[in-house]
Amino acid sequence: MKGFIVTVDGPAGSGKSTIAKLIAKKYDLTYLDTGAMYRMIALYVLKHGVGLEDKKAIADMLEKADLDIDGDRFYLDGEDVTEMIRTPEVNRIVSPVAAIKEVRKKLVDMQREISKGKRTILDGRDIGTAVFPDADVKIFLVASPEVRALRRLKEYEQKGVKTTYEEVLESIKERDYIDSTRKESPLVKADDAHEVDSSKMTIDKVLDKISEYIEEKIGE
Ligand code: CDP
Repeated sequence: MKGFIVTVDGPAGSGKSTIAKLIAKKYDLTYLDTGAMYRMIALYVLKHGVGLEDKKAIADMLEKADLDIDGDRFYLDGEDVTEMIRTPEVNRIVSPVAAIKEVRKKLVDMQREISKGKRTILDGRDIGTAVFPDADVKIFLVASPEVRALRRLKEYEQKGVKTTYEEVLESIKERDYIDSTRKESPLVKADDAHEVDSSKMTIDKVLDKISEYIEEKIGE
């Protein structure tokens, strides 16, 4: 069967992974959470105590990091790190780590390799612009920073992570800034992406909207 690629890009906490999982289920696509891959490298950097400014050391380290993905579980050097990659500590350093050219090159190569010839939905920041510029359907999912911070805060509360609305909002704004202004594949909407603002939409509404775009494409 011919490959079919759907990309979902957008800022932190806009609901990309929630919606990508639902779309994957509905249309029988494989889901790849590319943010989790950057988070694994950020965790690797934390574990090995390398300074963020030492880009050379981080680039060298990349060769040794063993990343593995099995369904929705993520393994770093054989250890299941699925929960560990979603902590505020990882959030703090993931954007600077993801701005390093060598890091992006390694992960983009892996993303293309994993999706080759398959029916896949990927979410991230640069999927529709840099990783798969010829994707079949491109979505740019946005929401106001305040709505995104509230959603993220709720997730933290459910997991028992102690933080405040102000801290979460600050962290989201900082990541947005770094992700949108970096030199390598910044977060921007692809010209041919459909922008969906989920601030005032229910998940079902967002799902319906994106389904329309996918079905339009399937019907062509
Ligand atoms: O879930 P959330 O929106 O908070 O973030 P994520 O998708 O898990 O991505 C975490 C970080 O990885 C982002 O803030 C980016 O710095 C980086 N990232 C990226 O640079 N390119 C991607 N394709 C995906 C994530």
